[in-house]
Amino acid sequence: MIFWRVKSLDAILATAEKKSLHRSLGVWQLTLLGVGAIIGTGIFVLTAEAAQKAGPGMMIAFVIAGFVCAVAALCYSELSSMVPVSGSAYTYSYAVLGEFVAWMVGWALILEYSVAAGAVAVGWSGYFVGLLNNSLGIEIPYALANGPFAGGIINLPAAIICVLVVGLLVIGTRESAAFNAALVAVKIAALTAFIALAIPVVNMDNFQPFLPLGTSGVVAAAASIFFAYVGFDAVSTAAEETKDPQRNIPIALISSLAICTLFYLLVSVGVIGAIGAQPLRDAAGQGYMPGSLALAEQCQSLAAIGQQPVVCSREALAHVLREIGWEKIGNLLGLAAFLALPSVILMMLFGQTRIFFVMSRDGLLPEVLSRIHTRFKTPHIVTMVTGVGVTIAAAFLPVGKLADISNSGTLFAFMVVALTVMLLRIRDRHRHRPFRTPAIWLVGPLAVSGCVTLFLFLPTNAKLVFPVWTGIGLIFYFLYGYRKSHVARGIDTPSGGENIIEPIRPLADYRDEIEPEKPKD
Ligand code: ALA
Repeated sequence: MIFWRVKSLDAILATAEKKSLHRSLGVWQLTLLGVGAIIGTGIFVLTAEAAQKAGPGMMIAFVIAGFVCAVAALCYSELSSMVPVSGSAYTYSYAVLGEFVAWMVGWALILEYSVAAGAVAVGWSGYFVGLLNNSLGIEIPYALANGPFAGGIINLPAAIICVLVVGLLVIGTRESAAFNAALVAVKIAALTAFIALAIPVVNMDNFQPFLPLGTSGVVAAAASIFFAYVGFDAVSTAAEETKDPQRNIPIALISSLAICTLFYLLVSVGVIGAIGAQPLRDAAGQGYMPGSLALAEQCQSLAAIGQQPVVCSREALAHVLREIGWEKIGNLLGLAAFLALPSVILMMLFGQTRIFFVMSRDGLLPEVLSRIHTRFKTPHIVTMVTGVGVTIAAAFLPVGKLADISNSGTLFAFMVVALTVMLLRIRDRHRHRPFRTPAIWLVGPLAVSGCVTLFLFLPTNAKLVFPVWTGIGLIFYFLYGYRKSHVARGIDTPSGGENIIEPIRPLADYRDEIEPEKPKD
């Protein structure tokens, strides 16, 4: 019953064929795109939260989260090679599971992208504040650089960077592939420098006790650090402008994940081994909740006596380097994060506006959202609406909470993708699959159960946000999208084929393809 209103896969593919964009991306550019979208606040900042939840066991958390992403990526690969159009999980599920599930996935993706943008902004703020303080001696008052959960009033730098990035998106600034490659180089250089300096001073004693908060702490850390891998699906959304997507997309997805997992593991070994990564505990021996006021107070009282364990740091990697005597390199690493993280915010916000946009073109969201600015040729309304929400979230919520909320939406979308692949193997057995997920009856269930497990280990408030968000979405769907849906009304609009807004091409060719706003009659 819920699988009604399925968009025909053939129709989506035919539209994509008709409107296809210039195919310019090769496997290297795609891999760089993936690495560019993946490396961000997760490794630069959330490493501290992972340590607070799991201690040295966070190394295993990185492996668990990477593994769940890898099996999900294998499923993504099969779908993106079969349906090489944009729109990601939303488009795939529209074609296979129907409008209702597609709506839920699209709605969850909004949570993924916009809340992730907020999380990265808060992460950026930590590095910005640290950089100002350590390089220029300028101190931003605590109350203005931290939200209420950390004992402050507002995280002003995080809010300001959101407003700036939204402004850039409204006027049509986007990253070219070359610019993305340069920023990836900056991030890789920063992580490589960290590994090269931290690994030689590893002290094996710092790995004991390895699991201070038990195995459940490790899985909880994996559920949060999953955020560090989010973004690899950016590769599949560039399918339409990829040369030989059937071959290149799966290779790029898996290689970008593999590269990041390797870096993350080495970085976590460096953090733990160089200065230790034991969690702070209360009098009863329980670890404080990351992002809680109690932890913030504990950290403040330690700071008052000149101690700053890594779990208290808002710029974990720079902090480790400073602690082991590489003050200047620590500041340079901070500069790298300061320069590179805004591009992750941009990508996330961009992905979010694209999902909104495609859903609006399908008639599931009001048409006003897909209205294009006459001068800038950008979907300015949806960008600004999103911007307001993201800015408020970044101003008041801590990075870990935002990351956890974003993870809840992402895990749902990944689970649906895995289910879609399996369902399609049964229902449409003979369709050509340029890339077949190996051992699908093992990989698919592993992806589904991995996503469900990580979801269950998220903190309760993040788990609660998801059903509330979904509930709001369902009310909206039945009041609006259900009646206005183009599929239901027999109107032919391409959900993934017509790629009005794309993330990685230079502005010039993008403007050429924007449709002018239709005059009102
Ligand atoms: N994976 C991205 C990050 O860590 C979202 O910032």
